[in-house]
Amino acid sequence: MGNLWAGRFDRGMDAIVEEFNASIGFDKRMYNCDIDGSIAHVSMLSEVGVVTEDEKNDIVSALEEIRSGISSGSLVFTVKQEDIHMAVEEALIAKTGATGKKLHTARSRNDQAQTDMRLFFMRETALILEALVKLQRVILEKADRNTEELLAGFTHMQHAQPVTAGFHLMAYFQMFRRDIERLIDTRRRANQNPLGSGALGGTTFDIDRNMTTELLGFDSPCENAMDAVSDRDYIIEFLSAASISMMHVSRFAEEIVYWNSSEFKFISIDDGFCTGSSMMPQKKNPDVAELLRGKVGRVYGDLIALLTVMKGTPLSYNKDFQEDKEPLFDAIDVWRTSILILAAMIDKMEYRSDEIQKHLNDGFLCATDIADSLVRQGIPFRDSHWLVGKMVKLCENKSCGLPDLGKEDLVSLDPRFESLVLPDLSMMGCVNARKTMGGTAPQEVKRQIEVGRKWLAQISAAHM
Ligand code: ARG
Repeated sequence: MGNLWAGRFDRGMDAIVEEFNASIGFDKRMYNCDIDGSIAHVSMLSEVGVVTEDEKNDIVSALEEIRSGISSGSLVFTVKQEDIHMAVEEALIAKTGATGKKLHTARSRNDQAQTDMRLFFMRETALILEALVKLQRVILEKADRNTEELLAGFTHMQHAQPVTAGFHLMAYFQMFRRDIERLIDTRRRANQNPLGSGALGGTTFDIDRNMTTELLGFDSPCENAMDAVSDRDYIIEFLSAASISMMHVSRFAEEIVYWNSSEFKFISIDDGFCTGSSMMPQKKNPDVAELLRGKVGRVYGDLIALLTVMKGTPLSYNKDFQEDKEPLFDAIDVWRTSILILAAMIDKMEYRSDEIQKHLNDGFLCATDIADSLVRQGIPFRDSHWLVGKMVKLCENKSCGLPDLGKEDLVSLDPRFESLVLPDLSMMGCVNARKTMGGTAPQEVKRQIEVGRKWLAQISAAHM
């Protein structure tokens, strides 16, 4: 059979064009959605009297056979069939003859393709949401077990203040929480039914768009047919949300990479998430974390690709839009897999308290605490900051830590030290002292975890 649309053509497509024009190589991935869309469409056509009940039944059972054929691998497609929509329709006509030829009444590939895409989008993004929720559970549990596990906190990659591992994890919880909220919001806007928009202007048949909307599980029909076949905003929104989230993944991945280095040794990564070197027998490389860090590049690329495809395109459908699929599919795969891998890595990673302690000992991490304590003893903050700066300088000269300075050292810096006392300079003391809302004190991090748990339970109940 020639192309289903080729009535007005004298010759078939040039061989070199066939390949170029086809999307079947990648859009076959949506075959279930295409078949579900067609079943909803023909059910509606029968309801409004455009096809008979018997014709509908024949079409539906043939479509189900085609579905099994595709999933078992017995039905394979070639570029000749152009895209999944033509391929399924051709297979249907081959099975049912004249009856099957009625399926495409009141429908265009433009609304059909977008119906498939939105169905696929809703199904796949539900799995991403599930993965993100799983990651959040892992983070909450790990944080809960590590509210007293000390870590050196950094600014400018320099030792700053002591924090806890639980606190650090909960920072990521907030980032992924916003990612989840962005995804939910995108899904809410995307959940509309383009079917019935036709090529661009609707259809002359008296169809029931609410019926297909309900059958396919969309929230509502798209309001304007021209917009429905032209809009790819929901994919761009998704790619933006995916890019932001992958940026978060890459930041955690980078911390895993450097924390695992011989210079830091803050954590050990489970063997199952590392690889060796083909030449250097001693190596245990953090390849998986590095790959997570690298994968973000593809997703940014997907976003920029589709933004660029859509820029300046006139209404309504243009074939350019076929380029919406690969970026979406790629980002769906990369985002979901990355989240699941990150979750498993975090779950299995272990903090190396002894090694962390070495960093805590030699970085003047309690400097702010001394300054704060001097303020409480009547010294204005700018002066106390200055005095502690002098203390640090003296420690550097003497190659010692702040707690090692004696009274004489201090008085030599400033006579006011005669009457001043230094606070608890233990790292846990510094952490415990930061119990204001949002701080790193264990009791405060427990509160953050509790709030996080409640939010996650509510998200799971409402969206999964
Ligand atoms: N494969 C096409 C796409 O994904 C389907 C729509 C084709 N429509 C058309 N008028 N050629 O964009």
